Amino acid sequence: MTLRAALIGCGGLGKVHAQMVQPLEGMKMVAFCDVDGASAEQLCREFQGDYATSDVERIFSDPTIQVVYICTHHDTHAPFCMRAARAGKHIMVEKPLALTTEECVEIGRVVEATGTKLMTAFKMRYFDMILKVKELIPNPLMVTMQMMDNRWPDDMWANDPVAGGGNVLSQGVHSCDIMRFVAGSDPVSVYAVGQNYYQKTGVIDNMAAVYRFANGVTGNLVQGDSNCPSLVSKFYLQVFAENKSATLSDRLTTLTYQEKGKDPVVYKGSETGFQEENRDFVLALQANRPMPIDHRDGLLATLMILQGFQSIATQQPQPILSLLA
Ligand SMILES: NC(=O)c1ccc[n+]([C@@H]2O[C@H](COP(=O)([O-])OP(=O)(O)OC[C@H]3O[C@@H](n4cnc5c(N)ncnc54)[C@H](O)[C@@H]3O)[C@@H](O)[C@H]2O)c1
Repeated sequence: MTLRAALIGCGGLGKVHAQMVQPLEGMKMVAFCDVDGASAEQLCREFQGDYATSDVERIFSDPTIQVVYICTHHDTHAPFCMRAARAGKHIMVEKPLALTTEECVEIGRVVEATGTKLMTAFKMRYFDMILKVKELIPNPLMVTMQMMDNRWPDDMWANDPVAGGGNVLSQGVHSCDIMRFVAGSDPVSVYAVGQNYYQKTGVIDNMAAVYRFANGVTGNLVQGDSNCPSLVSKFYLQVFAENKSATLSDRLTTLTYQEKGKDPVVYKGSETGFQEENRDFVLALQANRPMPIDHRDGLLATLMILQGFQSIATQQPQPILSLLA
């Protein structure tokens, strides 16, 4: 059966997902929705959809739609996810899952209660050099992740504290998901330092955080938009085990692996992910398998950042995993 999907949010990432779905067997993007009706019309024409609308309720109440892609601003993720799940539709939601812990927990509750499936879009899990690191160092001791962007514009919606939450939350969830994935364990607690250094909207724009994982792995995160460093690039990951290390530079596409007493080995990969996550999503839906990256993954990555903010505010370590008990 070909699943019929609707795209809510026809901006930059919405268009990327429409492009990724196009070549896939098993799903077709048939409806396009955006508050900006012209954007919805444009993608509908480009991807030969059945209809475009600026009324999101038309999507939720359409019984022929089985899947909804939510690619809108962050403050709409929670209400749209819950509305979609209550309408019995499966969900691909762009990161972050939502803006608050309560919203993330509630999304999970509604998804589980309705028996729908939700995938959080963490494309970096599919980067081939991330997968290679897991193969080379399956049991790390320390994972350090740095994501340092060029300064985001003051008037960008994602910098708005209500609509977006700022770059540390918006992009930091990618970093946290990767750290958790590579650590192979859930985050127990965080101690973070950082602040609003310059963004006029008042969001925390740069943060350093230390995470304790349940299996004893130490995680270290540097997240911000001070300036993209050309030497290591925007995304930079290092993984350490006894007498072993792996360094991923060039936006995580170059992996330098070193074992004590041996010459370093360099692996080259590519920045893949969007196609793979969409393919995996469709395959899991078609086979009625659990989602490869689900609402709990979305929740924990978001909590890792939000509890970092809480640590900054209180100047105290903050729990993560125990909040879910
Ligand atoms: N995975 C990644 O690598 C990656 C990269 C960039 C952005 N994103 C995420 O993708 C999502 C969208 O970001 P973007 O860069 O495409 O933003 P964008 O501004 O280009 O697109 C968002 C669209 O949503 C529409 N919209 C806003 N509120 C709406 C509502 N209530 N109903 C219907 N439509 C609404 C806007 O009109 C706009 O067209 C965000 O969650 C963002 O964090 C992910």
